[in-house]
Amino acid sequence: MSAAKLKVVLTVKLPEPVETRMRELFNTTLWYDLSQMPRDKLLQAAQDCDVLVTSINDRIDAEFFDAAPERLKMIANFGVGYDHIDVVKGAEKGIIITNTPGVLTEDTAEMTMGLILAVSRRFVEGAEIVQRGEFSAWSPTFLLGRRVYGKRLGIIGMGRIGQALARRARAFGMSVHYHNRKPVSARISDELGATYWDDLDQMLSRMDVISINAPGGSSTYHMLNAERLAKLQPHALLVNTARGQIVDEQALAAMLREKRIAGVGLDVYEREPAINPELIGLPNAILLPHMASSTIEARTDMGDRVILNVKTFQDGHRPPDRVIP
Ligand code: DGY
Repeated sequence: MSAAKLKVVLTVKLPEPVETRMRELFNTTLWYDLSQMPRDKLLQAAQDCDVLVTSINDRIDAEFFDAAPERLKMIANFGVGYDHIDVVKGAEKGIIITNTPGVLTEDTAEMTMGLILAVSRRFVEGAEIVQRGEFSAWSPTFLLGRRVYGKRLGIIGMGRIGQALARRARAFGMSVHYHNRKPVSARISDELGATYWDDLDQMLSRMDVISINAPGGSSTYHMLNAERLAKLQPHALLVNTARGQIVDEQALAAMLREKRIAGVGLDVYEREPAINPELIGLPNAILLPHMASSTIEARTDMGDRVILNVKTFQDGHRPPDRVIP
């Protein structure tokens, strides 16, 4: 006999095939609005379901868990990062929390490499010039970028995505350096040919490009504050596809304005979806709308992971991607 269907509420629209499968397997209610679920509706939705499928848009904090009824058993997050979820509080309440690791690694690394190329070679500016009909003649001095080949890349956070980026960067002829809580295993280090820097300040002061690939949350909040950013060389480029709160956005905007850093490629922001107005319009800033994992493949695989976690729980087993505080 199959297990009774769980009542599942989605706080955000998921890809059609994912929703269809969820409707088959669970008693699923969809939130069809593409925008962020209002706070009161989020708290309300959690009152009447067994599983809430969340995204980075939802603040699943202590207040949320305090208001959560006995019935709510699981938060299945559609995304790998879970800094928007108070996992300690969730665990205290006995609520299972899962994420979607491993299935958006390559996509995020691809976009990060793309941003490194874009800020180095300035092709977004070039494309905009052509679109505006302003391409008048080839010129030896026009829109000069910087070569990526032979440059030093410093990766902050050498987890799955950092490692996938390291492989790509090596293929582009960059030398790879990294800072992490601890060095990666000798096997991975040999494969990536990456140099470990225990001292982040030193690494920052020696690199041509810095990429942030660390998780968000209190341990990395403003890891790149004004003092740390000041260690970067004036020709350095910074790319962030991880979490906006890792960088002090105000300090970064000042560095860019004063040309104390050559350029940035950002996909994430401190107060997303709000973007510090001082960053907007700067020619040396490529700003993307949090889309590093936006591929049909990754979104489908993320949905499959959510389904696997909820289905495993529905069948009375431990979900594979359980987040343990
Ligand atoms: C992730 O999976 O963490 C993405 O940043 C979207 O939340």
